[in-house]
Amino acid sequence: MPYDTLLSPVTIGNLQLPNRVVMAPLTRNRASQPGDVPSEMNAHYYAQRAGAGLIVTEATQVSRQGQGYFATPGIYSDPQEAGWRAVVGAVHARHGRIASQLWHVGRVSHRLLQEGGAPPVAPSAMRAADTQVFVKRDDGTFGMIDADEPRALETAELPGIVLQFVDAAHRAKRAGFDMIEVHAANGYLLHQFMATGANHRTDDYGGGIENRVRLTVDVLEAVSGVMGANRVGIRISPNFTGFGLQDDEGETSSLHLARELKRIGVAYLHLAEADWAGGAPLSDDYRRALRQAFDGAIIVCGEYTAEEANARIERGGADAVAFGRAYLANPDLVERFRKDAPLNAPDEATFYGGGEKGYTDYPALDDAGRG
Ligand SMILES: Cc1cc2nc3c(=O)[nH]c(=O)nc-3n(C[C@H](O)[C@H](O)[C@H](O)COP(=O)(O)O)c2cc1C
Repeated sequence: MPYDTLLSPVTIGNLQLPNRVVMAPLTRNRASQPGDVPSEMNAHYYAQRAGAGLIVTEATQVSRQGQGYFATPGIYSDPQEAGWRAVVGAVHARHGRIASQLWHVGRVSHRLLQEGGAPPVAPSAMRAADTQVFVKRDDGTFGMIDADEPRALETAELPGIVLQFVDAAHRAKRAGFDMIEVHAANGYLLHQFMATGANHRTDDYGGGIENRVRLTVDVLEAVSGVMGANRVGIRISPNFTGFGLQDDEGETSSLHLARELKRIGVAYLHLAEADWAGGAPLSDDYRRALRQAFDGAIIVCGEYTAEEANARIERGGADAVAFGRAYLANPDLVERFRKDAPLNAPDEATFYGGGEKGYTDYPALDDAGRG
């Protein structure tokens, strides 16, 4: 069988995955309005992809403050929780497993998306350079707009940020999610706190590595208290340089974080690699150091083919591999890997926003012949 390592079972935390093919988190901006509520169409999309060893949902804001784009789903209201319960139910009905990716965008936002037109929040009052977010303007039209000047969070507000994740974790647990993945990657709030270029604080949450990583550790500890650490993962991207983020110590601080995650007993660490996100590629030395620092499962992601994924796992660099654009375009990705069948190409024009087109209408192998 081709890719037999990739297609072999693995245990992550207390979950048994039938294969090591993970569906990467993919923002699709198709939550129903008003209220950013997951819909039946969203449930259908995830259920189509239930063959994955584990699905990680699109990033899901833990609060209105944590939102940076129009029509991304939330997990802070009752209707949102009910919407997610239906998504999880649809995935479980097809014998899949699904993690909720919990998200706070921090400064990658605009006051048009915020409650009462408030400025977005960040570790320091520094705008994300060269960053645009998708908004609905006051006149009802949609479009991209430069990220707003954020307000620096007061030290006394930080327990409230942790609480946003805790409340969301309670809702995710009630909705039946198998796992929670805390989004600490790609230049959003937790990453902003970790990065030298976005965090100029002088309190216990700024300065040295231990301080900059503190909020992420606080969140992971608190979410683990709700869900059980063996059902919690985290996504990081140590060398990410998008959204104006610059970090002189990304790899070093991620190794410190990894040791803290080991202490907490977190189930997995999901690496969004630099080859997609920008920045320098991760070295083999770094991968080895990460393995030493952390004893849970490692998931990697970023432009992998099945062949490269299989080889990465065989070399010991990962326990599972997540696929983003390939999963978006191939609902039966695992089946295609099993048969070494060709893949549908993703249509970039329909990535963000819209309806069924480019979302639920990518054909599976067994319906490729039908119009
Ligand atoms: C349309 C799209 C949406 C994405 N949304 C998210 C997201 O919500 N959360 C996240 O952590 N990464 C997100 N990413 C990054 C992917 O999870 C993944 O890291 C990236 O696509 C590289 O993997 P690939 O080469 O297999 O596509 C997104 C990528 C794409 C293309």
